[in-house]
Amino acid sequence: MESELPSHVAIIMDGNGRWATSKNLPRKEGHKEGSLAIHRLMDVALKVGLKNISLYAFSTENWKRPISEITAIFELLDNFIAEKLEGIHAKKIRVKHSGSRGKIPSISMRNIDKAIELTKENDALTINFCLNYGGQEEILNAFHSVMKKRSEKKISLLKDVSVEELEAELYTSPLPPVDLLIRTAGEQRISNFLLWQSAYAEIYFTETLWPDFNEESLFLALDWYKNRIRKFGGL
Ligand code: IPE
Ligand code: IPE
Ligand code: MG
Repeated sequence: MESELPSHVAIIMDGNGRWATSKNLPRKEGHKEGSLAIHRLMDVALKVGLKNISLYAFSTENWKRPISEITAIFELLDNFIAEKLEGIHAKKIRVKHSGSRGKIPSISMRNIDKAIELTKENDALTINFCLNYGGQEEILNAFHSVMKKRSEKKISLLKDVSVEELEAELYTSPLPPVDLLIRTAGEQRISNFLLWQSAYAEIYFTETLWPDFNEESLFLALDWYKNRIRKFGGL
C-alpha cells in the first residue's frame, strides 16, 4: 500500500564543502550556496504541501572545524535571517530551533529567537533548524529534564520513564516522528541526527550535493518514499 506524504521530513544537508572544492571555491561559498538551497526548498515544500521539515544545519560535532569556517556559517545564518525572515513570515512558515543554545554566538541566538517569536502563529509549514544539535545530547538532556521536573514535584526518581514523558522533553517536541530522512552527498551515516525521532524513518541517500538539491531532487525522494512499505515491526 502506498504511504501518504511524509508528515515530517528530516534532511542532513551534506556536501557544501565538496561542492565548493569541486569549483575551486573556498568552502564558505559552498555554505552560501547551501543557504540558497534551503530557501528554494521552502517554496517547493509549500507547493507540495509538506508540513514539517527538520534541517541539520550545525551539529554538536561541527565545533571541531576551523574557527574561520564556523564564523562563516554563523554569519551566513545571520544574513539569511536578515534577508529572508520577512518573506518567510509572509509565506506563513513557522521557524523552530532544535539544539543546545549554549555555544551559539549571542547575536545569532537573538536572531533565531526573533524569527521564532515573529513566526510562532504560522501554520503553513514548520522549518525546524537543527543548530548546535546532537541526538545523544538531546536524549540525555530530555532525561535530565524529566528527572528535574520529578524532583520539583517530589515524584520518585525511580518510577519508570515513559516514552511520552521523554518525548515531551526533546528539542523537537511537539513535532511528529521522522517519516523520511534524506542525506545528501553520498555518505551513508546518521552523524548523530534525530536518533530518537528516526526510529522508524525511511532513509534516503542521494549523491547530489546539498547546494545542487532542487525541486526535482525532492520529488525523487518523495516518489521513492511513496513506494516504501512501512511495517513498524508488524507484518
Ligand atoms: C554540510 O556540508 C554543512 C555543515 C556541516 C555545516 P559540509 O561542510 O559537511 O560539506 P562536506 O561534507 O565537507 O562536503
Ligand atoms: C552532518 O554533516 C552535519 C550537518 C549536515 C550539519 P557532517 O559533514 O558534519 O557529518 P560527518 O562528519 O561527515 O559525519
Ligand atoms: Mg560533510
